[in-house]
Amino acid sequence: MSTNNVSIDIDGTSVDLPVRHPSLGQDTVDAAPLAKHALFTFDPGFTATAACESKITFIDGDNGILLHRGYPIEQLAAKSDYLEVCYLLLNGELPTKSERDAFVGSITSHTMVHEQIRSFFNGFRRDAHPMAIMMGVVGALSAFYHDSLNINDPEDRRISAHRLIAKMPTLAAMCYKYSLGQPMLYPRNDLSYAEDFLRMMFSVPSEDWQVNPVLARAMDRIFILHADHEQNASTSTVRLAGSTGANPFACIAAGIAALWGPAHGGANEAALNMLYDIGDVSNVPKYIAKAKDKDDPFRLMGFGHRVYKNYDPRAKVMRDTCHEVLDTVGLRDSKVFKLAMELERIALEDDYFVSRKLYPNVDFYSGITLSALGIPANMFTVIFALARTVGWISQWCEMVSEPGFKIGRPRQLYTGYTERAYVPIDKR
Ligand code: SDX
Repeated sequence: MSTNNVSIDIDGTSVDLPVRHPSLGQDTVDAAPLAKHALFTFDPGFTATAACESKITFIDGDNGILLHRGYPIEQLAAKSDYLEVCYLLLNGELPTKSERDAFVGSITSHTMVHEQIRSFFNGFRRDAHPMAIMMGVVGALSAFYHDSLNINDPEDRRISAHRLIAKMPTLAAMCYKYSLGQPMLYPRNDLSYAEDFLRMMFSVPSEDWQVNPVLARAMDRIFILHADHEQNASTSTVRLAGSTGANPFACIAAGIAALWGPAHGGANEAALNMLYDIGDVSNVPKYIAKAKDKDDPFRLMGFGHRVYKNYDPRAKVMRDTCHEVLDTVGLRDSKVFKLAMELERIALEDDYFVSRKLYPNVDFYSGITLSALGIPANMFTVIFALARTVGWISQWCEMVSEPGFKIGRPRQLYTGYTERAYVPIDKR
């Protein structure tokens, strides 16, 4: 759109609304002036609403493009690593060697959690869903860092971001060990971020454990693919919580809560459970029919996306990583993988999915891959939350460092009763 404003006629008065032009993507109409004319916009689900301005991540859903600070996800997944992507998301530029070493050193030196955090776990049943535990313990971190919760202090924001990125793998592995009744392991500073996470998940004190470098690289790539995704539901939750001035640990706990839903970050766990429910290729047509039936709430988990109306670029990389992991662990011929490939083939040929541009998303393959890595389904969304923490905290930092940012306070379309008088109970 070349114009710099649009005009609407309100009861005979022409009202100009400014048009904001992005560096990439859709022009946006500034709707704020409408408030002066007692008019709201109505857009439940925010299908056409830009809730903020951001420089961090750009998605082109029609062309299957995902950029982090301008760098394509395919290049970052192939050439970078997760901590370097964390630096990029937080700071806006790829680090020099010395900047990278200093950042990795800072993250590494904050991977331990306060010993008192361990006692929180004992309040949960061993079979508690780890996302319930993560919501609790991540929010509780705000009780341990009274010295650095001033959201207006750039140094407090920096150290809180580093602490969160550093401690999520430790807390995630503690959830898994707690569910098994095995000892929780301390992080080790001589291993990479992904290597140490896999070690804390799968090693035991009674024997040595060697990380498989192919699997560690795959884990790191999975972290990269889930790092940030512009204003998705959980990131918008973090921003809205942060707009009240809440501390970053509380805001990330709110993001974890929002991510848990099966329509969002819970889709990877739901997609794998769906494959187990389908059980056999012969059942695929029945489930495809259920997914198409408007009277059936069943949806094909791992398919479709609010923004991507083309193939999710992360799904392509995730699919390749899935093949690599399955080959490494010898599960390429597994029943669940073959079922997934057949489901993908049928769905991509079915007009219902093609006409609605419902392609496999990143969650369709991540569940199978994480399962092949030995990670149980109820930990999949925890892994997603671990990886997305850098996106959440980067978006939070971008918002709270804007001068004069305002509390988020949406309005509504009220269709309830007009005023009426109270009726005493003996008159009802
Ligand atoms: C993530 O926002 C993000 O960026 C999220 C995420 C991130 O990185 O943060 O990418 C991560 O959440 C990926 C999405 C994971 N969710 C799932 O895989 C759950 C299954 N997918 C659906 O629930 C759904 O596709 C959504 C929630 C992802 C998107 O829903 P929309 O944009 O609101 O789309 P819609 O519900 O309006 O669907 C359009 C049509 C509808 O049919 P009609 O009314 O046109 O007849 O497509 C149908 C829907 O019924 N449809 C599906 C379907 N997804 C949409 N039908 C069957 N199976 C599906 N999966």
